[in-house]
Amino acid sequence: MSRTEARTDGPLLAGGPSAHLRSTTTSLVIVTPEVVPGGPRPTPVLVHWGARLPDDLEPAALGPAVDPPRPHGAPDTPLLRPLLPLGSDGWRLGPVLRGARDDGRGWSPRLDVVAHVSDAATFTATFADADAGLRVEITLALSPEGVLAVDQRLTNTGTQPFAVDEFGAFLPLPARATQVLDLTGRWCRERDPQRIDLGMGAWVREGRRGRTGHDSPLVSVAGVPGFTFETGEVWGIHLGWSGDSVYRVERSPDGFTQVGACERLEHAEVRLAPGASYTAPTLYAAYSATGLDGLSACFHDFLRARPGHPGTPRPVVLNTWEAVYFDHRLDRLTALADVAASVGVERFVLDDGWFGGRRDDTAGLGDWYVSPDMWPDGLDPLISHVRALGMEFGLWVEPEMVNPDSDLYRAHPDWVLRVGDRLPPVWRNQQVLDLGNADAFAHLLGRLDALLTEYDIAYLKWDHNRDLVEAGHDGRPGLHEHTLALYRLLDELRARHPGVEIESCASGGGRVDFGILARTDRVWASDSNDSIERQHIQRWTGLLLPPELVGAHVGAEVSHTTHRHLGLAFRSATALFGHFGLELDLTALDESELIGVRDAIDTHKRWRALLHGGRTVRIDLPGADAVAHGVVALDGAEAVYSYAQLSTAPTEAPPLFRLRGLDASAHYRVRVVPVAGGPNTHQLREPRWITEGITTSGAALAEVGLRLPVLVPAEALLLHAERV
Ligand code: DGJ
Repeated sequence: MSRTEARTDGPLLAGGPSAHLRSTTTSLVIVTPEVVPGGPRPTPVLVHWGARLPDDLEPAALGPAVDPPRPHGAPDTPLLRPLLPLGSDGWRLGPVLRGARDDGRGWSPRLDVVAHVSDAATFTATFADADAGLRVEITLALSPEGVLAVDQRLTNTGTQPFAVDEFGAFLPLPARATQVLDLTGRWCRERDPQRIDLGMGAWVREGRRGRTGHDSPLVSVAGVPGFTFETGEVWGIHLGWSGDSVYRVERSPDGFTQVGACERLEHAEVRLAPGASYTAPTLYAAYSATGLDGLSACFHDFLRARPGHPGTPRPVVLNTWEAVYFDHRLDRLTALADVAASVGVERFVLDDGWFGGRRDDTAGLGDWYVSPDMWPDGLDPLISHVRALGMEFGLWVEPEMVNPDSDLYRAHPDWVLRVGDRLPPVWRNQQVLDLGNADAFAHLLGRLDALLTEYDIAYLKWDHNRDLVEAGHDGRPGLHEHTLALYRLLDELRARHPGVEIESCASGGGRVDFGILARTDRVWASDSNDSIERQHIQRWTGLLLPPELVGAHVGAEVSHTTHRHLGLAFRSATALFGHFGLELDLTALDESELIGVRDAIDTHKRWRALLHGGRTVRIDLPGADAVAHGVVALDGAEAVYSYAQLSTAPTEAPPLFRLRGLDASAHYRVRVVPVAGGPNTHQLREPRWITEGITTSGAALAEVGLRLPVLVPAEALLLHAERV
């Protein structure tokens, strides 16, 4: 891999950086314009982020190709799209940097490149403005999977403090990217997609919840009009940050479109002392020429390539929350564990209610001591029982929170995020510990460490059940420090207890981002175990995350959150694709229901390696009455597909189900797989292939498809395709 490198004490006037970063599908090209009289100043310009270009491309040759003319009513110097767009380059879209010293100086720096180094995967440059007293280091790293990671650091090289208001990363989009899709949502309805046509101006999504948020965009996607899961060029970004954020897609009459994101900071929340630095959260970006599936493939492969990605089969979970809630009687829980083990559960997770005075959700948070009332002999009797049954033991915690009705709060009311003497509004009867407070941090680390040391715990379900508002530390905005302290807390616990897995839960799916996932092993997608809702939630969580990172449980027949009745087969077929688990009172099921549950677990285990290692494909359907998707083995040897009918179909004749993603030239034997011990649909006699199976080519399955049987709402057809 060739590498170019340069370093000076002042601006690089000639021979500025140029680079061509490339993965299998994506190229990113940076050029520095030549110094010509009246031309733009020699700052690096990002001329292309998109489809892969040939290896022998001379980046500098693209400079003149994209050089704009000088229209009337525009800057005298042709406006290019600098790598770090700032006002000093004539840039008028959202700037990368906003901030100033106390007297207002330094607010508009002119940053010149003073060093750079690049190869075919990474570009790093240092920019400086000696007068403004600022230095910026930026690294763009394009992974082999096609995910571009943008890291930026701002250093105050002046002699006075510098307050950072915004320091984000932006990437250019081509003019044809005029449609935007991102996600929103709320408790029990996470990952709700919304699509807009981008006019002139900005589409801004601000996260002000102090956690990533149920309504987080997750991925901000811009693309050609009408892009789908299967087709169209798309560019998507995700911010790896668990605090507040701003995502922005902008289009301007200047002729530029860009997408970017940053941490949302309160004024002077980050105030850099001389010599100090602010590191922006990493921006992750991917391009796909083949719709949202291609984009997800980049993100999934990127996550899977991480050294810390879960490498063992994801254990089937029994979570006690919707099974017993706060009713923590040992005999009830051991009976539940017995049945769980008998149907094939591998990890038993004791949810909320085991500590301090926590008999309901009004008290006890913060008192991370096993409750002597509920557990006179500690947790050992339950843990030993669970372990003797061959299951792992997991425990629920909500470390960042405190109930005012707790011993911890009574002893340390000052350990809470607040503004002066005023407490923020309560939410689920709780306040938030100030992790930026060294004593609070040390206490929490000590308690969690002690629990993990004393007990045989393989897994923590790490919850977070409120938004943070007025997150003040010592009278100043404190969310930035609090979020970094949370990361330090998790990192330290993982270093001390490397075998322990952690789930990121926040009232369901309120904290799903690459920042938290760098130190956790799965997310709880939603508190809704209603499989109709889950079909949507899991489909759209999958825009960013591969299925093995997404907790999906079979809940009770009557959903606890929507009160909808759903059969076991549909519930199982829905949960099957994620990190599978159960969340219901198994002791209340009859023998035939338990046979069904056991069958669902067996089916999941049989396909687990495929489901958690294959390529996710989603099938575009014309209406919202059904959801269809599948997972195809990376070598094309087999695949599992699901067609879930959510409401009545609009047509009498059922549609053809196109099985995408198989090897077009290979032949496959396709058969219906009943799950949970029974037929998944009421009518399994026709078409003929339903009973007899069918063998045909991957191309025919993708392009023609298979005629579906008549499905009624809350029926799911599961298919297995095997190469012959
Ligand atoms: C919210 C979580 O999302 C639930 O699964 C459960 O753990 C409760 N908190 C417990 O309070």
